[in-house]
Amino acid sequence: MSGLISLTPEQFTQFQQFIYRHTGIWTVDGKVALLSNRIRRRLRDRGLDSFDDYYKLLTAGNAAGELEAFIDAITTNETHFFRTIEHFNWFAGPFLDEMIARATAGQRERSLRIWSAACSTGEEPYSLAICLAENAPRLAGWSLKIIGTDICESALATARTAIYGPKAIEHVSPERLAQNFIAQPAGNAWRLKPAVAGLCEFRRHNLLEPMEGTAFDCIVIRNVLIYFDRTSKPIALRHLINALRSGGSLVVGSTDGAHDFLDGLKRRSNFVYQKP
Ligand SMILES: C[S@@+](CC[C@H](N)C(=O)[O-])C[C@H]1O[C@@H](n2cnc3c(N)ncnc32)[C@H](O)[C@@H]1O
Repeated sequence: MSGLISLTPEQFTQFQQFIYRHTGIWTVDGKVALLSNRIRRRLRDRGLDSFDDYYKLLTAGNAAGELEAFIDAITTNETHFFRTIEHFNWFAGPFLDEMIARATAGQRERSLRIWSAACSTGEEPYSLAICLAENAPRLAGWSLKIIGTDICESALATARTAIYGPKAIEHVSPERLAQNFIAQPAGNAWRLKPAVAGLCEFRRHNLLEPMEGTAFDCIVIRNVLIYFDRTSKPIALRHLINALRSGGSLVVGSTDGAHDFLDGLKRRSNFVYQKP
């Protein structure tokens, strides 16, 4: 088969179902060219020239790391610092105000656990970390942790470097850039200062699975459920809600279509929901 042939309808359906089973992402029927291009990269890396041979390799389960590499190839990792600024303004303002007021009144401990779910290459959790760092004086003595998770290993590897190019930082003000980043000697790249980067920890996690560990005060889930369907979306949201502590806040992206599946949470604004 020539390298530029697209998936046949049958092959498209096979991969569409495979992706759905493993990630919850529903690849809509019009995306044949996009999916063909993305899978073709895996064929090249594996030295194969047929989609059928690649599907056999992928599903045989004996090609080390192939499932991870496939998922890396088919996910959309687009993100940037302070994407949808009003979410970060809410986090640094009303959310922190309330947490601090409650701690001062002795109604909660001085600690915050935040989860940036489907964080891609880390710009979202690091933007939250910058908000925390900017509030350091009023958070003195607090225990602070932001967990960034994604299904895509290569995105997480980028996140762990904490080094970003010009496109990622396009919406970072010059003051914030100077305060939180160190320009890299090679030029055209900026590394987050260790005090900010150190607030974040990255782990692989699939939204179709429950999240282990202590419950979170705030969970941010944006620009990923848009790729899910009406069956996989509520599954992911149920796991997120279960991971939220009582009184905790869920921040949803405006395009994610989560609103229909958040019964039981109190709507605080058009992007914040609170667990009773
Ligand atoms: C477009 S990025 C969104 C990044 C960030 N949340 C933002 O709003 O800028 C979507 C991310 O969702 C991740 N993703 C897709 N399906 C997932 C799943 N089942 N579990 C965890 N992450 C997933 C992708 O790997 C990708 O990095």
